Amino acid sequence: MPHTIVIFGASGDLTSRKLVPALYELKRKGRLPDQTRIVGFSRTKFSNEAWRENLAETTARFVGEDFSRATWEEFAPSIFYHAGDIDRPESFRSLAPYLDELEGERGATRVYYLATAPRFYEPAVAQLGEAAMVEESLHPRRLVIEKPFGTDLKTAQELNRKVHEVFHESQVYRIDHYLGKETVQNVLVLRFANGIFEPIWNRNYVDHVQITAAEEVTIGHRAGYYETVGVLRDMFQNHLLQLMCLTAMEAPARFEADAIRDEKVKVLRSVRRLGREDVFTDSVRGQYRKYRDEPNVAPDSETATFGAVKLQIDNWRWQGVPFYLRSGKAMSCRTTQIVIQFRQAPHMLFDVGPRAPYEANRLVLQVQPAEGIQLHFHTKVPDAGMKLRLTDLSFQFAEKFGGGMPDSYQRLLLDVMQGDASLFSRSDEVELAWSIIDPIQQGWERPGWPPLALYEAGGWGPPAAEEWMCKQHRQWFDACPVLK
Ligand code: BG6
Repeated sequence: MPHTIVIFGASGDLTSRKLVPALYELKRKGRLPDQTRIVGFSRTKFSNEAWRENLAETTARFVGEDFSRATWEEFAPSIFYHAGDIDRPESFRSLAPYLDELEGERGATRVYYLATAPRFYEPAVAQLGEAAMVEESLHPRRLVIEKPFGTDLKTAQELNRKVHEVFHESQVYRIDHYLGKETVQNVLVLRFANGIFEPIWNRNYVDHVQITAAEEVTIGHRAGYYETVGVLRDMFQNHLLQLMCLTAMEAPARFEADAIRDEKVKVLRSVRRLGREDVFTDSVRGQYRKYRDEPNVAPDSETATFGAVKLQIDNWRWQGVPFYLRSGKAMSCRTTQIVIQFRQAPHMLFDVGPRAPYEANRLVLQVQPAEGIQLHFHTKVPDAGMKLRLTDLSFQFAEKFGGGMPDSYQRLLLDVMQGDASLFSRSDEVELAWSIIDPIQQGWERPGWPPLALYEAGGWGPPAAEEWMCKQHRQWFDACPVLK
């Protein structure tokens, strides 16, 4: 079956940086379904040829050494452009026959991809409905929506309501690009394709879990967006909560979209919402010191660029096991990792001495970079009496399988074309995620609650975050991944 991917917001950054390079890569690898057409839609006027030429240049830049002009020449004829304005019904009235004509009698599965600024989501959906472009009696019609999906629970509910006026939930694909990462999917494989982890994956053996998404980059020129969101909305509501769900969920009955999403939803429902006082004790917010000097940042901005939050999952598996979620910009390195920190051995036979605190086992899932898994355990240092050292068994994807990791968008775009929503967020999932984040965000918006802790760029966030963990007799696993 042919496919047409209509990209709204075609002249934007996401299209040139992610979407078209991903489609090009699928073509290069021979995975793009035959007869896939890409139609760009935005206000800027381009001829097909001019748009193709622009994309050739940007795709070459973003794909790097895998770009080949010959493959591009094969790919380019499937790219088209139709200028239009999301706010104008006549643009959709001309888009509909344009697509029909391109597709011919055979028709095609259509994917409407909203790569626009979020304020256009609702009008674009409404216009698609008005122009009768979502009817599925002959061929599937799907809608892809980028993050951010709303800015809080209320706006997310409202957006879901508007989307559902036009599309059935089964037609809707809400992107969280973290779910397209190979290592994020591998969390499910590690847990549910191996028998040895399940018996210890619970409150009896796990002391706590740390999920960190640290970034070395600063805000740069993104203040226009970042000042309105901050770290909680930018990283916690979506990416970090998704990682938490995959770590904490029960095994789904089947590997299919709704079975997986049902289990994630159960986790989100079980998360204890933070009350007014809890926000003070169970979260830390920070801002890197030079943030207020960045272009377009208010000189008295209180926007958090670092956050650490302690969440409790009230169910039989996780009762009493805190999940520490942490993310920040301007940190010491780029690393996303899930650390399963096991309990101490019940009785220590060996005298490790006062200077070497006994560290318990941990399993580290390196999401990126240096994608892999390490299991940390004690060994005897040879020829040194009974001296112990924490060592690790380490697996790295690059070593084992060679090659780099594909960009998430390749997998996600292919899944949309194939109608597999497993790696996309369902409406209830997005709303539940907001219902966890909203009370924290509201707490943080009250001046000084908890205090905004400043931190130097290039470290692991504010010292207050270290102290906070220390008070709970725990410590962050701060390690930059070693690329072999
Ligand atoms: C995006 C956030 O969703 O994720 C960015 O808006 C962040 O602020 C990015 O930098 C991180 O994604 P990745 O794939 O580089 O970890």
